Amino acid sequence: MFGSQKINEENTLEIGGISVTDLREKYQTPLYVMDKKYIVDKVNLMKNNFKSDKIKTEIAYASKAFLTVGMCKLVKELDISLDVVSGGELYTASKSGIDMKRVHFHGNSKSVKEIEMALDLEIGTIIVDNHLEFETLERICGEKNKKIDVILRVNPGIDAHTHEYIQTTLHDSKFGESIFMKETMELIKKMDKSDYIVFKGLHSHIGSQISDHKSFLKAAEVMSDYIKEILDEGIVVEVLNLGGGFGIFYAEGDVEVDLALCLSSMVKIVEEINERKGLGIKEIQIEPGRSLVANAGTTLYTVQGLKKTYTGKNYYFIDGGMTDNIRPALYQATYTGTIGNKMLDKKSEIATIAGTCCESGDLLIKDAPMQKACIGDMLCIFGTGAYNYSMSSNYNRNLKPAVIMVENGKAELIVKRETYEDLIRNDIY
Ligand code: LLP
Repeated sequence: MFGSQKINEENTLEIGGISVTDLREKYQTPLYVMDKKYIVDKVNLMKNNFKSDKIKTEIAYASKAFLTVGMCKLVKELDISLDVVSGGELYTASKSGIDMKRVHFHGNSKSVKEIEMALDLEIGTIIVDNHLEFETLERICGEKNKKIDVILRVNPGIDAHTHEYIQTTLHDSKFGESIFMKETMELIKKMDKSDYIVFKGLHSHIGSQISDHKSFLKAAEVMSDYIKEILDEGIVVEVLNLGGGFGIFYAEGDVEVDLALCLSSMVKIVEEINERKGLGIKEIQIEPGRSLVANAGTTLYTVQGLKKTYTGKNYYFIDGGMTDNIRPALYQATYTGTIGNKMLDKKSEIATIAGTCCESGDLLIKDAPMQKACIGDMLCIFGTGAYNYSMSSNYNRNLKPAVIMVENGKAELIVKRETYEDLIRNDIY
């Protein structure tokens, strides 16, 4: 169990001091529950370990993991920056009252409209992905007579072990410009000379759900070495952004990165190379997404059907599935679940948790030990705070669940449950 999760005297799971049965009564299921204390504690742990007396440090929450106006407000309260990757994320941020100077805009395929929007909203930094994007950005800045801080995303060619869909720095990745191409150095020189963009530094993100902390240290080292090559060309790289990707625990077999050790070691490596080689790095940044929010999230479902197949497979049917959590179908991701109103009962069954969609692959958990279920029981799946709500869909015209943030016995609705009217809002009839 994570954060403020507990088992109460009624053998029921409690999150943020509220039992899941009470939450269901008030908000219905399926329901995403975010544990505020978990996020606050994780940010504090990161701040306490990603710090230096010599270099400024900055944490930017990678909002693709989970973004709503309410989440932006929490980011503001926690005094961290925000990484966005689309016009939609930019817009959400702009409606939240967050300081737009603390917004970093990413993406390998930004549209002209999105770039214009970012400039009009006066965000802090654009992370440029490639040559052509730099040219487009420079032209638009010229037309608008605006200057913007820019960081170039580069690919340091690090083979970090994770699912192939979320690897990002293999040599043929779509992200960033390779540090092994001489054209990249030429681009940096052009950026440095530009009248409209202020070249601040470099960015790399080696992938997501990476459990070996040595991959992050390797990235810090390789990037620092590349910064020395740039310095030799007479250009100072002031900002080094090392991305996110810190692996977390979802289910048996997952190794969670020791964040305290990983972050403090990353800082030490950069500090050391910076000093030894006189690099002039003034600021290091990270962009954690999953590690801040995944284990803050629990999805609550109601068991609404049970089935045993001819071969003896045991299905628990729930009122959600791949539309609120696509990760098992997309990445073969594994999760841990429990019957929230039978917490201490023995997990005497081997059950497969199946969703409502007309897809054989709509299974959230496969063949896992589970308490014996009855219709109406509450199935709770942990670790659903990242890339669940943000990747949810209306497939089969299912409605997206509500999202609540809980803390100290109080629940705050941060996203309303969709209605059937919402579903046809854009249909022409
Ligand atoms: N920075 C950049 C540039 C990124 O592309 C990402 C994630 C992050 C930071 C945050 O990574 P995190 O700390 O969350 O691992 N949908 C996939 C994950 C895709 C990650 C994309 N980029 C999943 O559900 O596993």
